[in-house]
Amino acid sequence: MKGIILAGGSATRLYPLSKAISKQIMPVYDKPMIYYPLSTLMLAGIREVLIISTPRDLPMFEELLGDGSRIGMKLAYKVQLVPNGLAQAFVLGREFLNGEPGCLILGDNMFYGQHFKTMLREAVESAQHGGAVIFGYEVADPRAYGVVEFEKEPTPTLPEGKEDVLRVIGLEEKPAEPKSNYAVPGLYFYDETVCEKAANLQPSARGEYEITDLNKIYLNEGTLKVKLFSRGFAWLDTGNCDSLLEAGNFIATIQNRQGFYVSCIEEIAWRNGWITTEQLAALGKEMKTNYGRYLERIAAR
Ligand code: DAU
Repeated sequence: MKGIILAGGSATRLYPLSKAISKQIMPVYDKPMIYYPLSTLMLAGIREVLIISTPRDLPMFEELLGDGSRIGMKLAYKVQLVPNGLAQAFVLGREFLNGEPGCLILGDNMFYGQHFKTMLREAVESAQHGGAVIFGYEVADPRAYGVVEFEKEPTPTLPEGKEDVLRVIGLEEKPAEPKSNYAVPGLYFYDETVCEKAANLQPSARGEYEITDLNKIYLNEGTLKVKLFSRGFAWLDTGNCDSLLEAGNFIATIQNRQGFYVSCIEEIAWRNGWITTEQLAALGKEMKTNYGRYLERIAAR
């Protein structure tokens, strides 16, 4: 499966921070924000990725990540001239996907938690067999998100290994009165019909090609799966300066406590077998920081 990272937009909620630079290049503790969604795709086993951003910001991502060969990946880049909706990723990405299934992740969505890799690999497998897989995450106030409506509310605490069989009956984008507390994070897996479906969407009342409308097509077809993240899982927001700082502090806390880095793209590439131990050590040597020392340390283990 191929992946797309949507890293455009104007991030006005972060002004003046984001007035002259891309939000998705800003630091979340010790690495640029885009490392986090990129690492999610890598954990899913996705090696070919298209990065979409604004004409102003795209060159910066190219300078940061290049053609991806240093981490055993293949990266491509595409400009989005006007930020007119998330579903546009599959209009702009049509040539790149070339009739194959695709995963979309938003450049400002960060995930961290146990069994994530298994969940991702299952989602890839499922979408490859047809349909779409999206996720649900319980939040206190879901009004700023896409929201899932279930036939029957999920059981909050199920015994280990038990899964609710939930029938999704509706999806709404930023509802004033949400029908559940389950928000849809910015991570979506689709089958090979996604570009065709996206091409037929009409703009919403706010003038955007909505990802929720794309998901509704799969829902109406009866091919949409919604997987729930458990309460121990972290889906972090970076929408305003408080949540950006909180995300950075969260990453720092985990890394400094455990000694393992979160979303270290070089480490994941190495564990995936995409680069050798020698290459990993060489990448570490280039950086005179703790990040560089970390790469050298794991390479020497
Ligand atoms: O974060 C999850 C939420 O993302 C979902 O629950 C919603 O269903 C989905 O619509 C989206 O809502 P947001 O309000 O967060 O979308 P926003 O317009 O802020 O865009 C999300 C990111 O995508 C942001 O970093 C900018 C980028 N973007 C956005 C648009 C509309 C683009 O690169 N191009 C675009 O055209």
